[in-house]
Amino acid sequence: MADAQKLEHLLGIEDLEVSSIRRLLDRGKKFKSDLEKGKKKFIHLRERTVVNLFFEPSSRTRSSFEMAAKRLDADNINFMADSSTSVVKGETLIDTAKILEAMSPDFLVLRHGSAGAPQLLSKKLEIPVINAGDGFHEHPSQALLDALTIETTKGSIEGLKVAIIGDIAHSRVARSNIYLLNKMGATVTVCGPPTLLPPHVGRLKVRETYSVQEAIEDADVVMILRIQFERQNTKQIPSNAEYYRLYGLNNNTARQLKGGAIIMHPGPMNRGVEISPQVADGSNSVILNQVTNGVAIRMAILACLEEDRNRGRV
Ligand code: NCD
Repeated sequence: MADAQKLEHLLGIEDLEVSSIRRLLDRGKKFKSDLEKGKKKFIHLRERTVVNLFFEPSSRTRSSFEMAAKRLDADNINFMADSSTSVVKGETLIDTAKILEAMSPDFLVLRHGSAGAPQLLSKKLEIPVINAGDGFHEHPSQALLDALTIETTKGSIEGLKVAIIGDIAHSRVARSNIYLLNKMGATVTVCGPPTLLPPHVGRLKVRETYSVQEAIEDADVVMILRIQFERQNTKQIPSNAEYYRLYGLNNNTARQLKGGAIIMHPGPMNRGVEISPQVADGSNSVILNQVTNGVAIRMAILACLEEDRNRGRV
């Protein structure tokens, strides 16, 4: 049997083998169950330091990585590359990462507006790099926490029909989820206005439709995405109100869902644009479970990277 893939970094889902996804999900499930029993401290990362380097805003992802590191007993530093740092004085990404590395951390969690930034740093630094979102490329920890949420509510991903609705063109969450869901045997339909679907989205092995009704009619899982206005140079929808009327998951469209279908959203949500408040807070919504599962999956990512790093040490 071929050797299991060694996790040196977590840069994206595209290059992850199914066995690695399975390993991370199983690890995540174990942490989830221990956390649910009230356990708050684990020792996997004792005497290790995790640096969060964020060049874009974040609420969930950054605090979730911080929580995960602290639960594993690591020290944690949060570096928000904003107007209070030397980034505004012209320091480059590589130099910023190098100065942080000179303080001997053990892991770097990076969010950056440019696709490929974590790949670049993984070649320049000696420590594991975890991609916490790079431009509109990938957001692997989000796809893994979504997968953990789907598995713990629906049992298994294999054979499920998943609809992803919204700004597919600019969404790293959509891309990572499409890779993961395909690898794990789900069928994915993407839906949005023509301007928000990438031109060759079919190459990602998904079904495409402009009709929300068609996307959701047989879906077991519906993922709603925010419109990423910050990644668009020109206005790509006429107005928020029109988008809501045609593509928002409102009470009427949600009534057409199959029994037992779940509704997900990676956050941040724009209530009244892509989702109605009643649907977001309704009984089918697992949006807060996603946030809870985020900590367990990020603990799994850190613990597995640590394990494989130790395997490589002589
Ligand atoms: C997403 C992101 O930053 O890519 N948020 C998140 O990490 N939960 C989605 C978004 O910003 O719309």
